[in-house]
Amino acid sequence: MTKMITIRRPDDWHVHLRDGAMLDSVARYTARQFARAIVMPNLTPPVTSVEAASAYRERIMAALPDGTPFTPLMTCYLTDNTDKEEVRRGFEAGVFTAAKLYPAGATTNSDSGVTDVANIRGVLEVMAEIGMVLCVHGEVTSDDIDIFDREAVFIEQVLSPLIADLPALKVVFEHITTQDAVRFVESAPANVAATITPQHLHLNRNAMLVGGMRPHAYCLPVAKRELHRLALRRAATSGSPKFFLGTDSAPHTRDAKESACGCAGIFNAPFALESYLAVFEAEGALEHFEGFASLHGPAFYGLPVNEDTITLEKRDCDVPETIPAGREDLVPFHAGQMLGWAFVA
Ligand code: NCD
Ligand code: ZN
Repeated sequence: MTKMITIRRPDDWHVHLRDGAMLDSVARYTARQFARAIVMPNLTPPVTSVEAASAYRERIMAALPDGTPFTPLMTCYLTDNTDKEEVRRGFEAGVFTAAKLYPAGATTNSDSGVTDVANIRGVLEVMAEIGMVLCVHGEVTSDDIDIFDREAVFIEQVLSPLIADLPALKVVFEHITTQDAVRFVESAPANVAATITPQHLHLNRNAMLVGGMRPHAYCLPVAKRELHRLALRRAATSGSPKFFLGTDSAPHTRDAKESACGCAGIFNAPFALESYLAVFEAEGALEHFEGFASLHGPAFYGLPVNEDTITLEKRDCDVPETIPAGREDLVPFHAGQMLGWAFVA
């Protein structure tokens, strides 16, 4: 008998859908597996206003076939000059679900990010008051901090003081990559949670750097030592409601990745659930897959769980070497490999 697993339809609590031709090419992969997604605002220019987020939401829906049952949950890109009343207005109008803190210069299109969280204290106070989630890219950016230490230093210098200062603020520490982050989130109060990507469950820094430099394994925050990957696998598969699914699928064209200064980001949307499920199976934790993928995120955001279900079947699933995006190619996560589960519907 074929082995199947059926769970409530999952949501992706962190994804980059891009814009224009790239959006038209990639949106379908996320909408195929997920009912909702927290859509990152790091476009050029970034999505900093209610109007820009509404217009972007319409472009996302226009990129999908009519009637696709997918709900983009929009985020507000925070800058040093964000107006707290704009954030409140967008949340109350149902346009903004969350706001995103990019430390200035941390990653792709983060130049207009926040230079010091003190500059957005008023915005964060309003968010705590209205129950709006803050999504955090947790890395410091100063030149003197080694790239492999940037997440751990961020906890100490920024996140820990921020949570102590605003204990009512709901914070998602996104795409965590270290044992330090796992421990921090586990010991923090219930208003602090984290998302974990498939790549950080599969790859350590050796996978990126041993035997040749592999640009398709490069994303930010960068993969760390094996002990960190193992800590992330334990956290994701533990059943703790503090950890949930956020792919950080971040497509860049093949040319932009395979370059002298390759872009950070891994395009994992096409086989995201297959990739996560491989980890839960290997860890002997299939019973915790639904919680991680479909229940903990809605509970944290205060949203209903999805009513419909999806099914994955245990069989070979070949991941193609490339996926077309208009006239360009994208190299998906696990390109050329075989995964042990296939998404059915
Ligand atoms: C993201 C992107 O390309 O937009 N890249 C990445 O490596 N994850 C930005 C981000 O989330 O850091
Ligand atoms: Zn991201």
